[in-house]
Amino acid sequence: MIVCRSQSEIDKLRRVNQLVARILAELRQVVQPGITTADIDELAERRVREAGAEPAFKGYHGYPATVCASVNEQVVHGIPSNRPLVTGDIVSIDMGAKLDGFFGDCAVTVPVGAVSPQATELLRVTEEALFRGIDCVRPGARVSDIGAAVQQHVEAQGFSVVREFVGHGIGTALHEEPQVANYGPAGHGPRLSEGMLIAIEPMVNAGKPAVKVLSDGWTAVTKDKSLSAHFEHTVVVTRDRCEILTLLPSDEARARQLLAGRVVSGGDSPETEGVRAHT
Ligand code: MF3
Ligand code: CO
Repeated sequence: MIVCRSQSEIDKLRRVNQLVARILAELRQVVQPGITTADIDELAERRVREAGAEPAFKGYHGYPATVCASVNEQVVHGIPSNRPLVTGDIVSIDMGAKLDGFFGDCAVTVPVGAVSPQATELLRVTEEALFRGIDCVRPGARVSDIGAAVQQHVEAQGFSVVREFVGHGIGTALHEEPQVANYGPAGHGPRLSEGMLIAIEPMVNAGKPAVKVLSDGWTAVTKDKSLSAHFEHTVVVTRDRCEILTLLPSDEARARQLLAGRVVSGGDSPETEGVRAHT
């Protein structure tokens, strides 16, 4: 069953998702050569708790940290460690939190100093693919329309989409129905309707799509050791389209560009056409 949330539930979901987005924005600022992913995790947990929230991943099926920090060929679920980041690395930082009974979830991949042209391209295409997926979200659309749009964009740029992990519904649990694959034909799966929440999270490899999980039981890496990137936003279906709950007001202009000219208004009018950022 896919839950449709009430306005007051959506208000709470907006609060926790904005909190996650704000903390993630701070984390990306501290990414630089020499910092370890354990340092990033420590800062993340401190900020989550200062806000009166709880880390959503810590303890989830035994996951040991507040963030997942996945470097280079690591795809997702990298466990923070004392390995210092070096110039040229890319690091995906994925974070979830729980506040007042509701969950937020968001991820970005960040370059460490100057990175290769291939890495730059991979980050650009993965974030664009996320927004191609977001662009499909509206009442009446089918869940698989999202993955079809993601896959189309990624493969047209010569990269590949990871099959083993999917996006998801989110609300009073971190993972709810439906599953949101990042590949496959459009026109299948449940229809979206107003009040549904989904976390869309494409994982894109520079090489082949195959991944494997390391012996730590968590870290997913590309089998061919190619670079991998991951971006995630949590969105709620609105009457017209959707609102990106993890989009900060300061990132609205960028989102507008990524949506290729579609309207992104921060106004509080629910009548506004287009994908709205929260302000
Ligand atoms: N954003 C990821 C997901 O939704 C992160 C989960 S990490 C875990 O699957 F530790 F919580 F599993
Ligand atoms: Co997620």
